[in-house]
Amino acid sequence: MRSTSIIFIFMFLYSCTANTDRSTNINSENLNLAQHGMVSSADSLASQVGVDILKKGGNAFDAAVAVHFALAVVYPMAGNIGGGGFAVYRTKGGETGSLDFREKAPLAANRNMYLDTAMQAIDGLSTKGHLSVGVPGSVDGMIRLHEKLGSMPFADLMVPAIFLAREGFPLNNREAEYLNLYREKFLELNDSTIPFINHTPWQAGDTIKIPALAGTLGRILQYGRNGFYSGPTAHYMLEEIKKGLGIMAQEDLDMYKSKWRDPVEGTYRGHKIISMPPPSSGGVALLQLLKGSEAYDFKAMGHNSVAAIHTMTELERRVYADRATFLGDPDFYPVPVEKLLDAAYISERNSTILPDRKTNSQDIKEGHVDIIESTETTHFSIVDKEGNAIAVTTTLNSLYGSKVFVEKGGFFLNNEMDDFSIKPGLPNQFGLIGGEANAIEPEKRMLSSMSPTIVEKDGELLMVLGSPGGSTIITTVYQVILNVIDYEMGMQAALDAKRTHHQWQPDKIFYETDCLDSLSIESLKNLGHVLEIESKLGRVHAILVREDGMLEGGADLRGDGAAIGY
Ligand code: DON
Repeated sequence: MRSTSIIFIFMFLYSCTANTDRSTNINSENLNLAQHGMVSSADSLASQVGVDILKKGGNAFDAAVAVHFALAVVYPMAGNIGGGGFAVYRTKGGETGSLDFREKAPLAANRNMYLDTAMQAIDGLSTKGHLSVGVPGSVDGMIRLHEKLGSMPFADLMVPAIFLAREGFPLNNREAEYLNLYREKFLELNDSTIPFINHTPWQAGDTIKIPALAGTLGRILQYGRNGFYSGPTAHYMLEEIKKGLGIMAQEDLDMYKSKWRDPVEGTYRGHKIISMPPPSSGGVALLQLLKGSEAYDFKAMGHNSVAAIHTMTELERRVYADRATFLGDPDFYPVPVEKLLDAAYISERNSTILPDRKTNSQDIKEGHVDIIESTETTHFSIVDKEGNAIAVTTTLNSLYGSKVFVEKGGFFLNNEMDDFSIKPGLPNQFGLIGGEANAIEPEKRMLSSMSPTIVEKDGELLMVLGSPGGSTIITTVYQVILNVIDYEMGMQAALDAKRTHHQWQPDKIFYETDCLDSLSIESLKNLGHVLEIESKLGRVHAILVREDGMLEGGADLRGDGAAIGY
């Protein structure tokens, strides 16, 4: 039988049970509890796909593959096959690991590729269009994840996504709004025939079908990584790249390989924290923040009190200063992870924190670290009935990435190249600066803030979490951990709580609407802080194992996602 017929048979069987209802079941009053398994993602359809896999006997890793591909269809602003990401896992036996499927700079890249002859950055070149595209890693990543940890046939994990792409899915309010908002940007780089452009404004409830994406996913089902990195899909991608100023070539696709890496691990008040190592800055920065926090009694200070926000801010200021200098792709730059996490180093860094006065960011440089070694993102969390757990954060970087849509393949390409430091000291789109450690080099991975994280208590799984939000990912994950461990909140309450953020440069505390009353704002200003309101910081999808053994799913009300358990 021809393999396309096999896909149709799979699709027919799947269609008998498929559900494209997008209503969410989140309610911060009603805890989302389940006994066996839980999937929390940015889209209820994708969460449902994951739970269905768990119910069919798949493990958390099978469900992760299915959710990733489903998000690539129903959450095109960040879910992807044209981007990359990271996964952190913990098996039921307590074995931990991480998978780096971050994009890479193409072979033809060079450190000055976004600068003009006067060495000034050319506006928009690293953030949109064909030259902003890094070599995508998601498909290779999902295939390797399945090979190492999956238990179900790969085809079973692809069919739900193929079904959704072929049969279509309804838009929710936010997606309709974004697509209308981005219409002109799409038209700058694409033909008006791409499925995300409508002749009348999109409305919630409209159905989008992406048959070309169903075709690409079908090729991945049939041919594995060759279904994406070579053959027709690769041809379509490179044909599109050549229409603009792109430099990605077949050799880049051939050479792309995701990498298993040892996670960064440390402790916080007796809990074990397992997070993403470089090329993400997330795990190192998170552990620096948590280690620094151990010296303070946050509970006594009070949640989001002036003292707590001041202390978190001062810790964050120092950690982000280190990030700018020392963090980059460890395959190209000797990231001094051990030194950055050394207790004496952290306590020395924090010795300049004053309780009654802010420090100025311009007076805070990176710490002294001897280099002695040679030289709209989306997050989902899954726990299965055996206790296997996985945290995956994946991205196109900006909303819809580079905005370049591979029309014949049905997917957007990322603009991850902007996560490099395109010029020393020049802020990227998240205001993050960097230097040599994160300079562009062929084949190098750009530094990330994505922080998929797992927390253990007494050797048992406690929590799985992560967030989108660019530079604010790290401080978001940090505050959710404090909320659970220090402030003893449940999962949904820990997500509902308002957040603040500081990243050294700019020297400002960003705070969410309704996070601070006018008295607290005044008190923080009296300590010397500059404050700026931000409507939302982060969008966490997380799972907590409660003391009674029940799984509590948390889906951030800042987005439209859903935690679904069974
Ligand atoms: O890897 C990073 O840190 C960024 N590319 C993540 C982008 C992001 O979170 C955008 N989402 N809101």
